[in-house]
Amino acid sequence: MPVRILLDVVPTGAALGAEIRGVDLRSIDEVQFAAIRGAWVDHQVLLFRDQRLSDEQLIAFSRRFGALDQAPIQENGRRFVDGFPEIYVVSNVVENGVAIGSLGAGEAVWHTDMSYLRDPPMASVLYALEVPPTGGDTSFCTMYGAWDAMPGALRERVRNLRVKHDGTYNSGGYLRAGVTPSDDPRTAPGTLHPLVCVHPDSHRPHLYLGRRRNAWLEGLSLDESNAVLDRIWELATADALTWRHRWRVGDLVMWDNRCVMHRRDAFDAGTRRIMHRTQIKGASAPVPA
Ligand code: SIN
Repeated sequence: MPVRILLDVVPTGAALGAEIRGVDLRSIDEVQFAAIRGAWVDHQVLLFRDQRLSDEQLIAFSRRFGALDQAPIQENGRRFVDGFPEIYVVSNVVENGVAIGSLGAGEAVWHTDMSYLRDPPMASVLYALEVPPTGGDTSFCTMYGAWDAMPGALRERVRNLRVKHDGTYNSGGYLRAGVTPSDDPRTAPGTLHPLVCVHPDSHRPHLYLGRRRNAWLEGLSLDESNAVLDRIWELATADALTWRHRWRVGDLVMWDNRCVMHRRDAFDAGTRRIMHRTQIKGASAPVPA
């Protein structure tokens, strides 16, 4: 049963995620914001339905959590929406022969946003402007649950390892701007992060996996690393650890990149999907457990 205090926090019933009801994100006060922040730490992913946000209002809501990153360069070579350097466009729409955003209409595989950076964003905020009639659902997966699901022997084996987070390809499989293609994770651009981290707010241990493609466990041979990573990824992306979101226009979903991975289903390329995304800076690089 939802409890009405300042707003309603309604858990999805899956391993992670909650819907926040009863708020207009254009006009939340400090008490409501504190409740939202607390719910976000508790549930890792929050859904707000029926919002009506301009880009300025999306940025203003996101900034309440902290400073924002500048949007990365899109596949179309543009950096951001004119006048809004913080907004990244996720879209398959093509206007005048130019894609207005990134990721097309294909699947975006499981990943954590921009984990190839030394200081990745702690959170992503995705707001739906246009959605296709079917497909394009986004799923989320708890990395607390992934750590909890690992057998003791596997935990001991990997507890102190670092994993290479590849900066060559994005989750749609597209080569990042200005990067030379490479399929050797040991030499490809990217960053090593601890595989097992502790969350600075919840103080709970979690895996920090990034992307499977071009991942590598430092110090292991490629074959050994691939065998261990395959085992971990199988456990970490089990259905029981996930929640799938079917989008409606006006939905805003924010997730904690430190302890959540996400993926997106493919959809019909003849339909339109336009999402605007902001990213909130983390206070620190991922913290080893
Ligand atoms: C993303 O991977 O950040 C985009 C997810 C989506 O398009 O739903």
